[in-house]
Amino acid sequence: MHDYVNSLRHSLPYINAHRDRTFVVMLPGESIAHENFGNTVHDLVLLHSLGVRLVLVFGSRPQIEARLTALGLESHYHQDLRITDAATLSCVLDAVGQLRAAIEARLSMDMAASPMHGARLRVAGGNFVTARPLGVIDGIDFQHTGEVRRIDSKGIKHLLDDRSIVLLPPMGYSPTGETFNLASEDIATRAAIELQADKLLLFSAEHGLLNATGQLIRELPAQQAKQHLQRFKDNKQIEQAELLQAAVSACRGGVTRCHIISYHLDGALLTEMFTRDGCGTLVDQGLFQQVREAQIEDVGGLLELIRPLEEQGVLVRRSRDLLEREISQFSIVERDGLIIACAALYPFPEQATGELACLAVHPDYRHGGYGDILLERIEQRARSLQMQSLFVLTTRTAHWFQERGFQPCTLEQIPSTKASLYNFQRNSKVFRKTLN
Ligand SMILES: CC(C)(COP(=O)(O)OP(=O)(O)OC[C@H]1O[C@@H](n2cnc3c(N)ncnc32)[C@H](O)[C@@H]1OP(=O)(O)O)[C@@H](O)C(=O)NCCC(=O)NCCS
Repeated sequence: MHDYVNSLRHSLPYINAHRDRTFVVMLPGESIAHENFGNTVHDLVLLHSLGVRLVLVFGSRPQIEARLTALGLESHYHQDLRITDAATLSCVLDAVGQLRAAIEARLSMDMAASPMHGARLRVAGGNFVTARPLGVIDGIDFQHTGEVRRIDSKGIKHLLDDRSIVLLPPMGYSPTGETFNLASEDIATRAAIELQADKLLLFSAEHGLLNATGQLIRELPAQQAKQHLQRFKDNKQIEQAELLQAAVSACRGGVTRCHIISYHLDGALLTEMFTRDGCGTLVDQGLFQQVREAQIEDVGGLLELIRPLEEQGVLVRRSRDLLEREISQFSIVERDGLIIACAALYPFPEQATGELACLAVHPDYRHGGYGDILLERIEQRARSLQMQSLFVLTTRTAHWFQERGFQPCTLEQIPSTKASLYNFQRNSKVFRKTLN
């Protein structure tokens, strides 16, 4: 089958999930100057045409820098923040004005080439960000460098309801009529929080956040950010530190998911939004629950969860001894120190298949999607073990599995070592799911 057929099928759940959601996207000045920017805009227009409500926040650091250099002026920084004097502010206004026009032009061009050709794409901007001066820090007056005081979320939502893309420059105005140069991270974070956005997307020079050995961190709960933040600061990885700080602040403010993705990788945005594994870093609110593989210390908790179901005949009985021996086959969901759900994977490597067994969710935690979370985990484990299918024997949960892509099969279709142990009295039904 063609790859695109598969890709399209797999992206469908994401397309549905993203429709009518609000994404705040931060485009640093470097990303706009990069040759891949055309592709990035193209992908943003695609998201817009799929019904995503988009707020774009752009930065202008290198563009301001270039103007200062051309005028023979020096940049002044303190604590990695620009000090904006009157001459610098004039460069800021010039850079921001030109960037705004360039982005609007690019968006208009892409719309004409998109599936929504003929439909009007409106880009809206305005005085949505109220600023205040950063003031004097360590005795240094930051002058026209400001911070966000308020975001007019009502005004922005109104435009989003009207299907406009909202464009926010790195500037804000004070009620006294002054203009301030703001950090785009500050605006993006505050906008995401005040709009109660579903996602904050931050473009980066790297593929995402990197660990100490330079590898991509795929997922980072906000609670675990502290050590990485310190490392970035110690190593003077300013961009990484700023992005992580922005993501953590947004998570604390209630944004559930922040994605940090590359601006030079063609298709990074779409890969992150429409595939299971993505290609950047996801910073999320962190769960006070975690999904992990079980350890020997979990045997007691696991027994408490599965005993009642064994007594009802829903699950096959396992002795403590057996459970101890098979503990590494189990994945569990732990919440506040309590095991609330489990599932096991028994591999049959010769047949490139595995048995999903002992799937159970504590009755108090049903209807919370934990069954799906564990099924996903088991499928992931099976794939990483090169398994091509999963099978399951069940007496009372047939429909649950069928609704998740399992199909009835015969005993001959499962490994003979398992089939020979089939308990005819129990009379379980057998189901199989092909993994792709
Ligand atoms: C099956 C189980 C793991 C699902 O738990 P869960 O993730 O909390 O699922 P939910 O309770 O949210 O149910 C999700 C959907 O599956 C349905 N469902 C739940 N149990 C079902 C069952 N036994 N058969 C068919 N459908 C079932 C629910 O009605 C719900 O559908 P709906 O939203 O359309 O009503 C859980 O019900 C359980 O632990 N059951 C007992 C153990 C068991 O049967 N394990 C399978 C052994 S092979």
